[in-house]
Amino acid sequence: MVLRNTTSDYRQPLPEADAEMLGIAAANEVERFLEHRANHAETPLVSLPGLAASLGVASIDIKDEGHRLGLGSFKALGGSYAVIRLLLEKASGALGRTVDISELRSGDIQAVARTMTVACATDGNHGRSVAQGAQLVGARAAIFVHAGVSDERVAAIAHYGADMIRVAGTYDDSVREAARVAEAKGWTIVSDTSWPGYERIPGLVMQGYTAIVREALRKMPEPPTHVFIQSGVGGIAAAVSGHLALALGDQRPTFVVVDPARAACLFETARAGHPVRIAHGEPTVMAMLECYEPSLVAWRILSRTADAFMTVDEEDAVSVMNRLARPIGDDPAIVAGESGGVGLAGLIRAAADPTARVALGLDSRSRVFLINTEGATDPKKYTEIVGMTPAQVLVNAGKAVPA
Ligand SMILES: Cc1ncc(COP(=O)(O)O)c(C=O)c1O
Repeated sequence: MVLRNTTSDYRQPLPEADAEMLGIAAANEVERFLEHRANHAETPLVSLPGLAASLGVASIDIKDEGHRLGLGSFKALGGSYAVIRLLLEKASGALGRTVDISELRSGDIQAVARTMTVACATDGNHGRSVAQGAQLVGARAAIFVHAGVSDERVAAIAHYGADMIRVAGTYDDSVREAARVAEAKGWTIVSDTSWPGYERIPGLVMQGYTAIVREALRKMPEPPTHVFIQSGVGGIAAAVSGHLALALGDQRPTFVVVDPARAACLFETARAGHPVRIAHGEPTVMAMLECYEPSLVAWRILSRTADAFMTVDEEDAVSVMNRLARPIGDDPAIVAGESGGVGLAGLIRAAADPTARVALGLDSRSRVFLINTEGATDPKKYTEIVGMTPAQVLVNAGKAVPA
């Protein structure tokens, strides 16, 4: 089912601070920061003509964030960027002058970094990014994970030298616990979700994601007509739709937010017309999207920029992983983790539903943009679901295994 956006803010301009956070000047700065990252390379924009034909749309372009900054997900762009920005601000304050990213390796800045501890709660990918950013600048990281985060994901974060703290309960419990401990210890919370009175840092995290849109727009001959993006707390959906609205104005694409049916906090928020916390149910295979409360900043943006909200089921997510691993025709294979292909799962559902096609104006002229938000960030789980390792997927598709 597709829920059209009927909030009173719909298609209203973004508040000034949000427009500044996600606008072109901010996105330029994000890309400038990326130039200073040793392992930075633009992620591939992959065309899937076979799949597009089978779904009755003109084209599908999918940005493959499995290749981002060695971390396997788009989250690599947000948390580490915010950590660097926060260190530069702290160093500027301490040294009484503006400190630029080009000075990150200088002794003065490193001395400030050693006094800093950054903390966050995570389902997996955001924590990895914060931990990587902390290691990069020489700060400490304390990462809070809830009971459902796999040992593999915990190990992948600890690999970056972070202190790991297990919290009983759900993701939302870990968010609260991280905030509580950080407050008591004087650590800086670098969260990808926001709450009343805590907006600026999650805004920086979202700002980091704008690089995906910049890179994609430069590669596309024409801007997309439709975008389907998966949501956890709504940060990536808000960053992408917000930047597209600011960059393209009236030419912006129809934007659809896709939630897991078992953790549909954005869908229910859109239905209510204001942020709601939903009840916990069974866990979803779309582990990175298992959030029960939207980010306030994300909702403020999505209430203005998203055209529709929808949900997908467990089997949709599993099926899309397999479809991307075993593509039709000459389409290249893509390794998509459990939450990576959920935007595509939304497109597949909408394309098969005549009412949704009409509601969204989805037809044979539609150019669809999607983001594979993660590769096999939990390789064991990926192999269980797809029946092949990520490396085998690429070998079967005649591709070299990436280094
Ligand atoms: C792979 C992946 N996709 C999508 C999301 C959803 O992002 P957001 O919580 O910003 O909506 C996440 C969040 O952790 C993620 O890790």
